[in-house]
Amino acid sequence: MEVIIKSDAQTGSIAAARVVARLVREKPNAVLGLATGSTPLTLYKELIRLHREDGLDFSAVTTFNLDEYIGLEKEHPQSYYTFMWENLFSQINIQPEKVHLPDGMTQDVPASCAVYEREIINAGGIDLQVLGIGSDGHIGFNEPTSSFASRTRIKTLTQQTVADNARFFDGDEAKVPHHCITMGIGTIMDARMNLMLAFGTGKAEAIAATIEGPVASMMPASILQHHPAAKVFIDEAAASALKLFDYYRWVYDGKPDWQKDA
Ligand code: GLP
Repeated sequence: MEVIIKSDAQTGSIAAARVVARLVREKPNAVLGLATGSTPLTLYKELIRLHREDGLDFSAVTTFNLDEYIGLEKEHPQSYYTFMWENLFSQINIQPEKVHLPDGMTQDVPASCAVYEREIINAGGIDLQVLGIGSDGHIGFNEPTSSFASRTRIKTLTQQTVADNARFFDGDEAKVPHHCITMGIGTIMDARMNLMLAFGTGKAEAIAATIEGPVASMMPASILQHHPAAKVFIDEAAASALKLFDYYRWVYDGKPDWQKDA
C-alpha cells in the first residue's frame, strides 16, 4: 500500500485528482469506479475544475459506482444516483449511457447484481476505483465480516453506519435505509488500481487498522494490503494513529514527481 499523507483534505484530494486525471489523459476510455460520501467531494470538484480549465475529457469514460441504497428512487435527494449527478456528472462531459449505479429499486436484486457484475466485465474491468472508508472500516457498503470474495449483492448496514449516515437524512436514523446494493470486496479487489481517501480524526483508527493492522474481515478495508496497486490519500488527522507516520512522509517526499501522480 502506498500511503500519502497531506497536510489537509484539500491538498490530499488534489493529489488524488492528479492520479485520476493522468489515467484519463493516458486512457481516454478509462473505466472509473466511483464512491459517494462527503470524502470524495473535493476530489470531484477538482476533476470538474480540470475539465473546465484544462479540458480534461470524460466523453469516452465509463463509470461504475460502488453502491446504492435499496428503496430510494433515483430522484430521491439522498440516493447515490442524485449525489453523483449533482456533484460530478452534470458538470463534466460524461455520456449518460456510460454511467452505471446499482439499481436500488430493482424487483430482482440478485439478477440486477449479476447484471452489474457482467457490465463491469463487458466494459473491460475497472481501471481505477475511488474509495472512502466508513468509521468501522467498510468500503463501499461492505460492513465488517463481509467476505473478501464477495461480489455485488445486497447488504444490511450496521447500526453504526446508519447512525453515521443519518446526517444526510435530517439527522433522523429512521429515514436511513437499512439495506443497500454494494459491489463486493472481490469486485473492488479486481480493480487495477484502488485509490482510498480519508480525512479527519474520525477515520484515524480505521486507517491505522487498515494500513498497519492484520488483514481481517472485521476491518474490510485491510484487504487492500493484498492489492498490488492501492494508494491511500490521508490528511494528518486521519494519519494520526499510524505507527510509521514519519516513514510514509519520508518515502513520499523522496519520490520523483512522475511517480507521485502515477
Ligand atoms: C458511506 C459509503 C461509503 C463511504 C462512507 C464514508 O457509507 N457507502 O462508500 O466511504 O460512507 O462516508 P464519508 O466519506 O461521508 O465519511
